Amino acid sequence: MRTAGRVVAGFFRLIEKEVKPGVTTKRLDEIAEEFIRSQGALPAFKGYYGYPATICASVNEEVVHGIPGARVLQEGDIVGVDVGAKFKGYFADAARTWAVGRIDKEDQRHIDVTRNALKEGIAKAVAGNRLSDISWAVQRFSEKNGFSVVREYVGHGIGKNLHEEPQVPNFGLPGRGPELLEGVALAIEPMLNRGGHEVKLLGDGWTVVTKDGKRSCHFEQTIFVGKKAAEVVTE
Ligand code: MF3
Ligand code: CO
Repeated sequence: MRTAGRVVAGFFRLIEKEVKPGVTTKRLDEIAEEFIRSQGALPAFKGYYGYPATICASVNEEVVHGIPGARVLQEGDIVGVDVGAKFKGYFADAARTWAVGRIDKEDQRHIDVTRNALKEGIAKAVAGNRLSDISWAVQRFSEKNGFSVVREYVGHGIGKNLHEEPQVPNFGLPGRGPELLEGVALAIEPMLNRGGHEVKLLGDGWTVVTKDGKRSCHFEQTIFVGKKAAEVVTE
């Protein structure tokens, strides 16, 4: 899993310079597939329930699972890029939202709050805590900063499968659910909306968008629950 995580992190480093006005989401997908295979790993999403690509690229009001294509990124867009890699049978899964060129101040705050909401969740991924302590930390931080958290899509266990038990919601009261055990692998992935938390699925069967058309932001890391602190696998 650590090797798969390093591949995912390497991909994000690689596209840092590529996410700019004029690039298509398809191009980012090609870079991802080529890089992952060059590392001896496999794209984790391609073929997953028929998903057609290596990354998900979700622009502006798209929340998650946007399919890469001919869309050209424009100055002022925000784009969530989600990627998974499989190495020797083990998975890692991560996402980051990027600014395309110069963006609005409130969009930058949205990105920063979502990244920090994930950090708040990861800080609770410590042995002896309960699963919903993560959920509560993400929700409290997000709402305190004026954003709503998506309910319909959640984080997950990960390991020999991309998605394993338990589900890791980004909302809920603390002190509930199973006790966290050292070494358990989780993909924590807050999705924060500028407007309401409601989402809907587009006709392509994949792309999730906000119901009110306002922008959404997504960050995800694969982590191991630690004794004192979590280990982030995809950094
Ligand atoms: N990180 C995404 C998730 O956990 C991965 C989606 S895989 C896809 O939902 F194939 F469904 F796109
Ligand atoms: Co995931």
